[in-house]
Amino acid sequence: MSDSNTTDFTNPSTFILLGIPGLELAHIWLSIPFCTMYAIAILGNFSILFIVKWESSVHEPMYYFLCMLAVSDLVLSTATMPKMLNIFWFNSREIDFSACLTQMYFIHCFSAMESGILVALALDRYVAICHLLRYSTILTNSVVAKIGLALVLRSSILALPYPFLVRRWPYCRTNIIPHSYCEHIAVVKLACADTRLSSYYGLFILFSVIGLDILKVIFSLLTKDAQLKTFGTCGSHLCAILDQTHPGQAAKALFS
Ligand SMILES: *[C@@H]1O[C@H](CO)[C@@H](O)[C@H](O)[C@H]1NC(C)=O
Repeated sequence: MSDSNTTDFTNPSTFILLGIPGLELAHIWLSIPFCTMYAIAILGNFSILFIVKWESSVHEPMYYFLCMLAVSDLVLSTATMPKMLNIFWFNSREIDFSACLTQMYFIHCFSAMESGILVALALDRYVAICHLLRYSTILTNSVVAKIGLALVLRSSILALPYPFLVRRWPYCRTNIIPHSYCEHIAVVKLACADTRLSSYYGLFILFSVIGLDILKVIFSLLTKDAQLKTFGTCGSHLCAILDQTHPGQAAKALFS
């Protein structure tokens, strides 16, 4: 606090997002596939919601879970894509500190939700295949609603520490984030403090929430044989999810 240089920068009012560093000249071209994917995602996910709403033959638990998945896909892509396209098209790189934290919260909240919904979908198929006769008594509408509520509560609570911890750190170096959205570890790296708590929390969530969700699916399968087969075929999926959540960066931040 005694150092005026430090206090100048503490809690910057805005951050600067660089987009994709090193590819600034290609931003306009990159915006074409990104924009197309976003448009398709909006169109496809809204179609799912409308079809399930208007078509009474699909009023079943599986389709309710698919609707939840569509909603979280919509939120997740809308939390990141508009700002990203803004950077690509209009070079508007500034983002408010609180907007950045909000974006971070939404990303983590709805990623955890997606992971949970995928488990719920797997559970639904498991009951439908292995306990078909009791399907409608096990997965009643109220059970589906309770599962949905539990997923919403779980992810919204577990995602809270991310922005709260990030808000606590002092920022004195720079406010430039070399990313196209407020990625947790990228923001934490800008802090001038011992930020291991943030990194540990990120790793804890990664392994406890997403890892356990995957294991839950695998162990709800019946035979040893099926379990082994699943480990074999899901290995690549596991790697994809781990890669998506940047454990490498988390580990780097942790050990540097
Ligand atoms: C829903 O959105 C996600 C991305 O947010 C996308 O990957 C998925 O394909 C979309 N679903 C449909 C049916 O278009």
